[in-house]
Amino acid sequence: MAKTAPRFVCQSCGTAHVRWSGRCEACGEWNSIVEETGRDGLPGGLGRGQRKAGRPVELLGLEGCEPPLPRRQSGVLEFDRVCGGGLVPGSAILVGGDPGIGKSTLLLQVAAALTGGESGAGLACAYFSGEEAVDQIRLRAERLGLAGSRVQLAAATSVRDILATLDTAESPQVAIIDSIQTMYVDSLDSAPGTVSQVRASAQELIRLAKQRGFALLLVGHVTKDGVIAGPKVLEHMVDAVLTFEGERSHQFRLLRATKNRFGATDEIGVFEMTDRGLQEVANPSALFLAERNTNISGAAVFAGLEGTRPVLVEIEALVSPSTLATPRRAVVGWDGGRLSMVLAVLEARCGLSLAGKDVYLNVAGGLRITEPAADLAVAAALVSSARDRALPEGCVVFGEIGLSGEVRPVSQAEARLKEASKLGFTSALLPARRRKDGPESSGISLEEIRHLADLFDFFAELPD
Ligand code: TYD
Ligand code: MG
Repeated sequence: MAKTAPRFVCQSCGTAHVRWSGRCEACGEWNSIVEETGRDGLPGGLGRGQRKAGRPVELLGLEGCEPPLPRRQSGVLEFDRVCGGGLVPGSAILVGGDPGIGKSTLLLQVAAALTGGESGAGLACAYFSGEEAVDQIRLRAERLGLAGSRVQLAAATSVRDILATLDTAESPQVAIIDSIQTMYVDSLDSAPGTVSQVRASAQELIRLAKQRGFALLLVGHVTKDGVIAGPKVLEHMVDAVLTFEGERSHQFRLLRATKNRFGATDEIGVFEMTDRGLQEVANPSALFLAERNTNISGAAVFAGLEGTRPVLVEIEALVSPSTLATPRRAVVGWDGGRLSMVLAVLEARCGLSLAGKDVYLNVAGGLRITEPAADLAVAAALVSSARDRALPEGCVVFGEIGLSGEVRPVSQAEARLKEASKLGFTSALLPARRRKDGPESSGISLEEIRHLADLFDFFAELPD
C-alpha cells in the first residue's frame, strides 16, 4: 500500500506545498497553509495502490433542456437589472461591500419587496443575521417603513442550525445570510471568518440552495484593499458577485455585477442613501449633473456607458503651478495610470507643457469610471483648465485616445448621444464616425475630433 504523504495546501489559492510555511508563496496570503492527507499526495486519496472502481455517470446530449424556472423579481428595478432580470431559483449571489455602505439595508429592502410588501402575496423570504439581533433588524425595518412586511427573521451563526431550518418541505424561496464571515461549521476548529470556515459554510449553504431550489444571497465583507474577505474560491463558488460601492461622504451607492452566470457583468444599479433607506435612482445622469456649474474652465461632461445604460457625468480638472520638485498628480474616480498616459500624449504630441504644474482630476458625484472612452473628456478638461477656457455650454465629450494622439471610435456612440440629447445637451465632441447617418436629427451638433490637435484647434476657435 502506498505511503501516505502529508501535503500542505493553501486554503486561499489551493496551491500544494511540500512543507508548511507561514506565508503562501503563490498568492502571498499569510497563515493559510493547512496540512491535508491524501494517498501519494493526490487529493481525495486516489493513489496508485488504491484505485477503486467508480460508478459510471450517464452522459447526456445538449438538447432536451427543461423550460427554465421563472426568475424571481423583487420589484426593486435597479437590483433586478443588476441580477440580470431577477433572482434565478437555486442560484447563489454574493453581495460584497465596505462595512457600513448599506448592504444590510439593501437586502432588507429587497427581502421586503420580494415578500410583496404589506400584502405578503409574494415569496417566502428568510433573513439570517449573524451581526445584529432580531430587535435591531426590526428597528431598522421600522425606520425603513417595512415593519408590515412578511420577512422571516432569525439571529443565527451556526450553519448546521440554518441548514436544519431551510431543509424542510416548506423552505423559503429566498434565503439571505448576513454575513458569511460570521457563519461557522461546527466540524471545523477554526474561528468564524477564517478562510476554511467561510469556504465550508458557503459550500454547505450553496449545496442546499441548489438542492431545494431557493435563491441564496450571501453578504460578504470587503477588506481594506477591496477584495472580498475570505478565499478567492468563494467568488468561484457563487453564480454571481455583486459589489455595493460608493463614497461614504456621498449619498450615491452603486450596485455593480462583477460576475454573473445569468446576465451581463457590466450593469450598474444606482441608489441614493436617504434617512428612509435606499431610494432607486432611475435617471442617474440628472443626479450626477445636478450640482454642475456651467461656463467654468476645467470641466467637461463625459457621455459614458455603464453596462447597457448611458450615464452622463462631469469630469473636473485643475492644472496649477507647482512649488514641488516633482509636481503632484492626483486622481479621484479614474485610473491614475490612464491620466499619466493622457498627460504624456498631450505633452509629446501636442506640445502642451505641464512641467512644473500640479494636475488634479476628479469625477464628480463619487462615480468611478473605467471606460477608456473617457480619455477625450479628460483631455478636454485638462486643456480647458490649462488654457483657462470653458467648453461651450451644453457640450458632451467622449472618445478613446491612442499613443500617437489619434482619437479612436468607441462603442454605442448613438446611445450616448441620445442620452445627451434627452438631458438637453446641444453639441458633442466625438471621434470620427464610420456611419455618417448619425443622430443629427436628435438636435445635437457634432464636432469630429480625429486627433488631439483638432481639440486644440477647437479651443483656439472658441469665441472669447
Ligand atoms: P448597513 O446596511 O448597516 O451597512 P452594511 O450592512 O453594509 O454594513 O448601513 C449602515 C449605514 O447606512 C449607516 O451608516 C447608516 C446608513 N443608513 C441611512 O443613512 N439611512 C437608513 O435608513 C439606514 C437604515 C441606514
Ligand atoms: Mg450589515
